[in-house]
Amino acid sequence: MGASKNPHDDISEVLLDEAKIAARVKVLGAEITAAYPGNDELVLVSVLKGSLVFVGDLMRAIDRNVRIDVMEVSSYGGGNTESSGTVRILKDLSGTIEGRDVLIVEDIIDTGITLNYLTNYLAGKSPRSVKIVTLLSKPARRVVEIPVEWMGFEIPDKFVVGYGLDFAERYRNLTCIGVLKTEKQKA
Ligand code: IMP
Ligand code: MG
Repeated sequence: MGASKNPHDDISEVLLDEAKIAARVKVLGAEITAAYPGNDELVLVSVLKGSLVFVGDLMRAIDRNVRIDVMEVSSYGGGNTESSGTVRILKDLSGTIEGRDVLIVEDIIDTGITLNYLTNYLAGKSPRSVKIVTLLSKPARRVVEIPVEWMGFEIPDKFVVGYGLDFAERYRNLTCIGVLKTEKQKA
């Protein structure tokens, strides 16, 4: 069964509405600003495509100089709600992170496989520090435990879409984060 014309129709439950997300992102931005008090380069590494919307809002909530870089990785096959366990780099950084503070900006940590891989990969490029901010976390699904400095919300073990998160590349443009109806979780 494909996606409906109106993406809102495919949501069974709104977990986080726009206002709740916006308020939390402001707090995260303030905490991140306070954690990097100097004027050394802070590189936000946005993990595409899921963190697109989050990084756009978060960077404007951070009150200091930042540089943005993007990586695209994939651990899911299209139209799949289970991680494949293998991470592929589809797009690498365009700038250097050597000697810089790096903050990985992720949409959701599920099994932890993607962030574990990315943290190790970026640590190999001699940055000064590598930390993680993720908007969402599904603790019930964790396979690899990794330290996450900032987290927006813990959510139950349900497949969610919206605010950048997709199913088969759809629903990223929803302003809320909602649970995708089970009958829509098929390619
Ligand atoms: P992990 O490697 O299992 O932690 O998976 C991380 C990636 O899987 C995230 O960056 C998302 O792109 C995707 N993902 C995990 N759970 C969901 C979900 O509920 N909705 C949409 N994407 C998800
Ligand atoms: Mg992602």
